[in-house]
Amino acid sequence: MQTLKAIKNSDAKANSFSDREFPMLDADFDFIARVANEKTGIQLGNHKRDMIYSRIVRRIRLLKLQTFAEYCEYLNSHPEKEMTNFTNAITTNLTSFFREEHHFDFLRSTVLPEIKSKNRVSKKLRVWSAGCSTGEEPYSLAMTFHRAFSDVSGWDIKILATDLDTNVVSHGKAGVYVPDRVEGLSASILKKNFNVVVPASGRGNAYEVSPHLKRYITFNRLNLLGDWPMKGGFDVIFCRNVVIYFNKDAQRILFDRYAEMLKPNGYLFIGHSETLHGVTSRFESLGRTIYRKIS
Ligand SMILES: C[S@@+](CC[C@H](N)C(=O)[O-])C[C@H]1O[C@@H](n2cnc3c(N)ncnc32)[C@H](O)[C@@H]1O
Repeated sequence: MQTLKAIKNSDAKANSFSDREFPMLDADFDFIARVANEKTGIQLGNHKRDMIYSRIVRRIRLLKLQTFAEYCEYLNSHPEKEMTNFTNAITTNLTSFFREEHHFDFLRSTVLPEIKSKNRVSKKLRVWSAGCSTGEEPYSLAMTFHRAFSDVSGWDIKILATDLDTNVVSHGKAGVYVPDRVEGLSASILKKNFNVVVPASGRGNAYEVSPHLKRYITFNRLNLLGDWPMKGGFDVIFCRNVVIYFNKDAQRILFDRYAEMLKPNGYLFIGHSETLHGVTSRFESLGRTIYRKIS
């Protein structure tokens, strides 16, 4: 049973949102959380109320609405106009170049030598960065492969980079990053793989990924909960820091679909706070959030 204190706290929480410039009632938040879960798999618990308020309020201002209730009504009656903006608003896109660097070390030391031998006849390497955000992950993969395959010619290397959020897919395609985004990269990596450009915004220099890396990658919008147009045959799938927001059922369905998309013994890399333990038995753990499909 809820204590009086807990009831008072939850009332205070609800009131703190109904008192704001644009009131957000419990029913509004519940509606937003339900649509988010149905359309994207993202779960929005009560602790996400502040985040949702600040992200959706921007849409409310742009649409010149007065309340969250009006926004919910608009989303409900005009999904074709608003759903993409809504899903773009609720995604969390935190990423960086060579994030979780041990994954790239493992690719270099173990996965790529194995693939060079296993795929020596087809000379094909197929990789999927699922939930690629603004592109730092697939470009880190491209840098790793470009270097690792510099001693052999004729390899056909393709990286598919997909995300639900249309804004981050456009950013990834453009491949232009402000200095803050590349500050973790060494001077020699920057020199070899980026060109200094002056963006249209005119706000200082930026770094554009060189064409020799862009050619490996195809960026597309794709909802991991929806239909996938790809045939499969991937050697490696990166799906890192994406399912952390999904419930266990959605995770199980997704990982089983990844198993179907991977070649026998294909590799799956997930995020540092994610696990397949208790979710699917289609993969064996190689440690440190690296898995191999059981054939
Ligand atoms: C935190 S970022 C992770 C980026 C990158 N993988 C990394 O680890 O640095 C999570 C990404 O997953 C995407 N995402 C969330 N739900 C999705 C879905 N249902 N389908 C496709 N992408 C989704 C978000 O738009 C976001 O860009």
